[in-house]
Amino acid sequence: MSGKYINTHIGFIGGGNMAQAIIRGLLQAGHPAKKISVADPIAEQQQLIKALAEEITCTIDNATLAKQCDMLVLAVKPQIMNTVAEPLGQINRPDNQVIISVAAGITLASMSDWFGTDSALIRVMPNQPALIGEGMSGLCATTNVSNTDKQQATYVMEATGKALWFEDEQLMDAVTAISGSGPAYFYLIMEIMQEVAEEFGFDKKTARILSTQTALGAGHVAATANEELSDLRKRVTSPGGTTEAALKTLEAGGIRDMFRNALQAAKERSLELGKN
Ligand SMILES: NC(=O)c1ccc[n+]([C@@H]2O[C@H](COP(=O)([O-])OP(=O)(O)OC[C@H]3O[C@@H](n4cnc5c(N)ncnc54)[C@H](OP(=O)(O)O)[C@@H]3O)[C@@H](O)[C@H]2O)c1
Repeated sequence: MSGKYINTHIGFIGGGNMAQAIIRGLLQAGHPAKKISVADPIAEQQQLIKALAEEITCTIDNATLAKQCDMLVLAVKPQIMNTVAEPLGQINRPDNQVIISVAAGITLASMSDWFGTDSALIRVMPNQPALIGEGMSGLCATTNVSNTDKQQATYVMEATGKALWFEDEQLMDAVTAISGSGPAYFYLIMEIMQEVAEEFGFDKKTARILSTQTALGAGHVAATANEELSDLRKRVTSPGGTTEAALKTLEAGGIRDMFRNALQAAKERSLELGKN
């Protein structure tokens, strides 16, 4: 699909971590650097962008960039999105420009307020592993976004990992709870495993490798296997064995309910933040 969109001029408002991750992926996918522009007020960020590819245009002028791009990616922090997006809504931008926000919690309704209900607007919830090309992004769009526009947005977000579309924007709160916040849940489990490994007598470096390589291996198996996750678990749980002893302790401690409640809390918080 990548070849189809190499002429799409993609502009980024904000050249921080997320923008750099997407740009890195786009360049790897063969997107021409001269078809990428970035607006960021910080010289250091611009240098980091230029280090990815010298031909990328960098500017401090959001409005000029927004006038030139077929696709505009809003990649600033949610707290300043209003200040950044409102002026961009006032200027003449190309007809059919597609606007993507990767900011957590910024709703399509807010985007419509800034850019008008006629604009093609896409909301994305990425997650942190996007920074290394292993991200999980949830996408949703206003009803006037064409299939071609959606394919272009998929092309952009797949540069950072996997991308899934959702018809109903309300599901974005659930996406936030599962994949948006999800990396932190796994970091917590790895953190606990490392701590206990250290208590068992391993040095910190060894404990970290034991914990993280196990998570990596299990993640790979889970992502590629055809079996149900519960079957994978059962396959490594011999009756009367060590794994069973650990899992019984977790079940007795109420891990399922605890996790369910945690995910529900994240979903409710996402909903609350969206309202604000
Ligand atoms: N990083 C992640 O793992 C992650 C995960 C999910 C979603 N996201 C979303 O992605 C978005 C970007 O996050 P990030 O981690 O890339 O943040 P970031 O590294 O802080 O990048 C934002 C960039 O925008 C710049 N900026 C500030 N004001 C601007 C303006 N008026 N015009 C243009 N650029 C401006 C910032 O400069 P200053 O440094 O001067 O502020 C910074 O370079 C956020 O909305 C976040 O919710 C990120």
